[in-house]
This record gives sequence, C-alpha cells and structure tokens, in this order.
Amino acid sequence: MEQLNSIADLRDRVAKWRASGQRIAFVPTMGNLHAGHATLVDRAREVADRVAVSIFVNPLQFGANEDFGKYPRTLDADQDLLRRHQAAAVFVPSVSDMYPRPLTETTMVSVPELSDILCGAYRPGHFVGVATVVARLFNLVQPDVALFGEKDWQQLAVIRRMVQDLAFPIEIVGVPTVREADGLAMSSRNSYLTGSERAKAPLLFATLQRVARQLQVQRGAEFGELEGLAQAELVRQGFSVDYVTIRRAMDLASPGTGDDEFIVLAAAWLGRARLIDNLVVRRC
Ligand code: PAJ
Repeated sequence: MEQLNSIADLRDRVAKWRASGQRIAFVPTMGNLHAGHATLVDRAREVADRVAVSIFVNPLQFGANEDFGKYPRTLDADQDLLRRHQAAAVFVPSVSDMYPRPLTETTMVSVPELSDILCGAYRPGHFVGVATVVARLFNLVQPDVALFGEKDWQQLAVIRRMVQDLAFPIEIVGVPTVREADGLAMSSRNSYLTGSERAKAPLLFATLQRVARQLQVQRGAEFGELEGLAQAELVRQGFSVDYVTIRRAMDLASPGTGDDEFIVLAAAWLGRARLIDNLVVRRC
C-alpha cells in the first residue's frame, strides 16, 4: 500500500489507475480505524479494482467546543489495518492541502434542511464541514464509487443529496453498521468511555431495538409517546439525551400515516462521549 502525502502524488497515482482502466473506490475517514472502517474497505474491494482511503481529521466539521484537539490520531496502526485489508493507497493530507485559504475565505458546500435537523441542530455547521471536505476529496480522488457507513445515517443522506444536487458522477454505497458483540456501534469516540460508561453504552442500541419492536407490534402507537418513553429510559440509565426520534428512512422527514419504512435515530452523551446510532424498521 502506498502512502500519498501530497495532492500531486494522489492525482498522479489515480491517473495511472484510470489510464489502465481500473475502477476506483474511495473511503474517506478521520482515522483511528476500527472494524467498521475495515468493513467499508472490504466492501470497496468487492465493487472496484483499487481502493483509496483518506485519513484527515477535518477541523471544519468540529464545533469550537468539540473534540478536534483530542480526536484520537493513530496513523501507524491505521496503516497496518489498511494494509491487512488491501487498500491500494492511503491519502493523508495536511490541513493546508485541504484548506489552502483561511477557513473564513474558503468556498463551502451547504446542503440545506437535511443539515439543520437532528445532529445538525446540536452541531451547527457540522454538515457544512462534512459536505465541504467530502466534495473536495471527491474532486481530488475522482472515484467511480464512494462508501459510507449507515451508522452516520444523516451524514450518508447529506452526501447523497450533495452528489445529486452537484451532479458528481460518483456512485454512493451505504454499508451497514458494524457492532461490538454487545450491540454497541463501533466508533472512534467509544475510546472516550470510562469502564462503567462502556458497560452502559449498549443500552442505546437496546433502546432503539425496543422502539423498533413496538413500532412493529403496536400499529396504532403514537410516535411521540414511543420517543418519550425511550428518552426517559435512557435518562434513567444515566445518558444525557440530545434526541431519540422516529423518522421516515428515505428522507428523515416526520413519518405520515401511509409510511411503512422508518428509522429510529438517537444521539446521547455518556460522560465525554457523544454516541449516535440508528435502526431501520420495515413494517410489513
Ligand atoms: P469517520 O468517523 O472516521 O468515519 C468514516 C466512515 O466510516 C464513515 O462513512 C462512517 O459512517 C463509517 N463508520 C464509522 N463507524 C462505523 C461502523 N461502526 N460501522 C460501519 N461504518 C462505520 O465519518 C467521518 O469519519 C467523517 O465525517 C468523513 C466522512 C470522513 C468526513 O470528514
């Protein structure tokens, strides 16, 4: 596997692949890679000839009081993982590669509405940061296909919308969430959990599963009531809840009576860790 540290090297490498007719997959990450990221790389290898991965802790998607400074940076271990999973190249740009101008003067990509709800309401500017960095990375790598995890369902929705609206000729593939044995969604931020918080953390997914079961069996159930019960249960267990909500899976809008494909999404804090998770429910 090659490590590409400059835009020139990246463009050169990708141009060679393209010239030899290879299909290119791209997996953008912020590093501190775990089995969830590895699954994206494995899936990418199934759908393309070459897999390029980026590792960039993107300052633009962190709020002023968020964990940009503390975000775990583990480049050597990340490279080992990517080698084991047969990525062809890893691109590790610097902040000035990605943002040659001061951030206040940088062109940004904003996906309205979808970016302002749910996590966007609690993390203002977050999805502008995500869309902007992903758009620039797409233009640098120019992949045929790019893969994103369903764990970050709203992020995936924002990227799909951006790709449609800006006509990026890139296929977007969503990959199901990879979980620990006890159900906790894998995340780089799980390392912020203390021992006792880690023991409680699987309750987030367990709560989503309970809401999903209720949605299946109680056809007339009030969405607001199910959300309220789930939120109260998480608070009782010691979570500080940003939201628990039932939405339409397709577009994250509030569900109507005719809908039968839902997604239950939650974001909640345990100590220093903000955990997010979701579960799709199809009513048959
Ligand atoms: P990061 O959190 O490093 O995640 C990179 C990719 O891995 C994302 O598509 C994310 O959804 C996916 N992922 C993370 N945990 C996963 C899990 N448990 N199962 C499956 N996929 C998982 O998401 C970002 O970085 C950034 O916002 C980025 C898109 C790179 C833009 O900076």
